[in-house]
Amino acid sequence: MSPTPVAMASPLRPATYSWEATNEAVAARYGVPIERIARFDLNTSPEAPLLADRIVRAGRFETSLSEYPPSDYRRLVEAAARRYDVEPDEIVVGAGADEILDLVGKAFLPAGGAAVVPEPTYAMYRVITEQRAARVVPARRLGAEAGYAMDAESVRMAARQASVVWLCSPNNPTGLAEPPGSIEALLNGLQADSDADRREPPVVVLDEAYAELAADSLLPLRSAYPRLVIVRTASKAYGLAGLRVGFGIARPATIAAIAPYRPPGSVSTVSVTVVAAALEADGWLPERVAAIHAERERLAAGLRAAGWAPGPSVTNFLLVPFGTPERARVVAGALLRQGLVPRTFAAGHPLADHLRLTVRSPEEDDRLIAAARSVAAGADSVTRSDAAQRSDAAEGSDAAAKSDAVASSDAAEGSDAAAPRNSAAMETR
Ligand SMILES: Cc1ncc(COP(=O)(O)O)c(C=O)c1O
Repeated sequence: MSPTPVAMASPLRPATYSWEATNEAVAARYGVPIERIARFDLNTSPEAPLLADRIVRAGRFETSLSEYPPSDYRRLVEAAARRYDVEPDEIVVGAGADEILDLVGKAFLPAGGAAVVPEPTYAMYRVITEQRAARVVPARRLGAEAGYAMDAESVRMAARQASVVWLCSPNNPTGLAEPPGSIEALLNGLQADSDADRREPPVVVLDEAYAELAADSLLPLRSAYPRLVIVRTASKAYGLAGLRVGFGIARPATIAAIAPYRPPGSVSTVSVTVVAAALEADGWLPERVAAIHAERERLAAGLRAAGWAPGPSVTNFLLVPFGTPERARVVAGALLRQGLVPRTFAAGHPLADHLRLTVRSPEEDDRLIAAARSVAAGADSVTRSDAAQRSDAAEGSDAAAKSDAVASSDAAEGSDAAAPRNSAAMETR
């Protein structure tokens, strides 16, 4: 999921955040029938795997639905351990990757502490850091021409004052993995710096939410760096975001430090049963990943033919530059008026001149390609004044509420992403 940080009220109180607008909210604001809403902003799959449907219809779950799920999620842990080729005591289960990130924050980020965030990246790292009343130490990323790779020296420097380093590979929203060997080299560097400073090395979270799509994982590195926590999810390649299942994988001692913060039963019995079956079943995931890859290339080619320039991606989303934040907002507004919800980035965000677009079904992607063609042909701009477009697009980016935004000065502005409000104020986000 994707929060929009809207205010940092006080260093001692967590920032407030607004969440993405619902389909109902977008439909109401843009006057689009709800069945025409297509979510290009959440990096989810347009449909769950068939096996999920079969299990839910059969209605046979791990335990009766009148009971709590098994407190150790044993079958799910064992299925995940086999799938990821790790030991069961190297896994902690959470309600989505987001809960794992939260648990890591609770376990390793003291109030007044600090965490390194190589931005732009997934918004939750900043959210969780601030919720713990800790400080974000930003680290640099290189530009598009270098695949937005993290600047390892900048991360190392920032990590000297931090207890947690948040890494994401492949990175959301930029779509590419870190170059081969770079994370291992960084871990070695962090270890050397900590040895030199005679302190414990920082916990490094490596969020691999999109690993199955990139067919690559750095799970084996946990042996060499005991404070590495790898995060995986059922939400992306597995297509099961609604079940809310994620995993933290680390050496047993690190898992033992995280586990006490786990709430009892945050993952439902239905989720335990379906995700365990999805992990146990062979053969279906590679087929699904291949289909996403093929559709991604088709979508990218369609958008290129329409004059857009999506960057390379190893994930299920594309990052598209529009030259200026103004142009990105106008395009977002045009898409939203057709019920196509892009991920926007607020003014001030390093990617404010981009939109991020999820690879969806061929039908939905065709609608997006057609919309891109009509935007490129100027169909949107010949019928509307510049001012009207600006105001619409500002509302659009807000209704989509997907900005990894910098904090806004007004908490009230962001408290309800779908509520109509003054567009000039929204432009400040
Ligand atoms: C990098 C990254 N990590 C974690 C998540 C959250 O995943 P989950 O649905 O498992 O909470 C997302 C969702 O977009 C993501 O992009």
